[in-house]
Amino acid sequence: SSDKRLLIAGNWKMNGLLQEANDFMDAFGSNPAPEQVEVALMPPFTLLHPMSDRLAGMGVTLGAQNVYYEDKGAFTGSICPMMLRDAGCHYVILGHSERRSIIGESNAQIRSKMNTAWLHGLEPILCIGETLEQRETGVTNVVLAEQLAVLKGAPKNAPLTVAYEPVWAIGTGRTASAEQVTETHAFVHEELTRLGHDCRVLYGGSVNPGNAEELMGCPGVEGALVGGASLKADSFMDIVKAAV
Ligand code: G3P
Repeated sequence: SSDKRLLIAGNWKMNGLLQEANDFMDAFGSNPAPEQVEVALMPPFTLLHPMSDRLAGMGVTLGAQNVYYEDKGAFTGSICPMMLRDAGCHYVILGHSERRSIIGESNAQIRSKMNTAWLHGLEPILCIGETLEQRETGVTNVVLAEQLAVLKGAPKNAPLTVAYEPVWAIGTGRTASAEQVTETHAFVHEELTRLGHDCRVLYGGSVNPGNAEELMGCPGVEGALVGGASLKADSFMDIVKAAV
């Protein structure tokens, strides 16, 4: 809850075929989102072009799940920011914990990607979060501060959203408690202020229609980054409604 406009964003990860995207948009389009909430979807690259016109017509913002840090050249298999803009994207998720841990993305690489994204007018959704071991050993704030340090020296007015996603809550059905969320979001906002950024901070990690209202009601929470529950139009729409 805050003065900023809430953002409910769906990260489809490596899910979604064309037929599923069409079914999702059919269902979603017949049930418009409340105006107080911005709704965004991050489907896989292959669905960006086919989804962009219809989503724009429904007032849904489009984003991608990753981008390369060079803006042009011979980089087989990579996607540059201009391609994302061309496909109608406004957002790009950067630093998701799955990319940090499985693909081995470093804070330095994330910062390079962020610079290239900004150069081409994309708004990064920077994901940060601690593992269970880090939380249990009491180093959560140290880890989050390190991850946020990629913003040092970044242009102050650069478009940015941050998503706090505790790694132990992603895809596990286990969410952070309202107390943990409130406490951690307060810390993240403090760090962001110190770094000169007054941006939205989303919560992510097993958000579903049943817990969205409580999570979105925590002070300092300005929306959600939803994984599994964003794949079905009904549950995603229920989360959007619960957030208002
Ligand atoms: O980026 C969203 C995400 O990592 C959370 O996934 O499936 O726990 O909602 P999920």
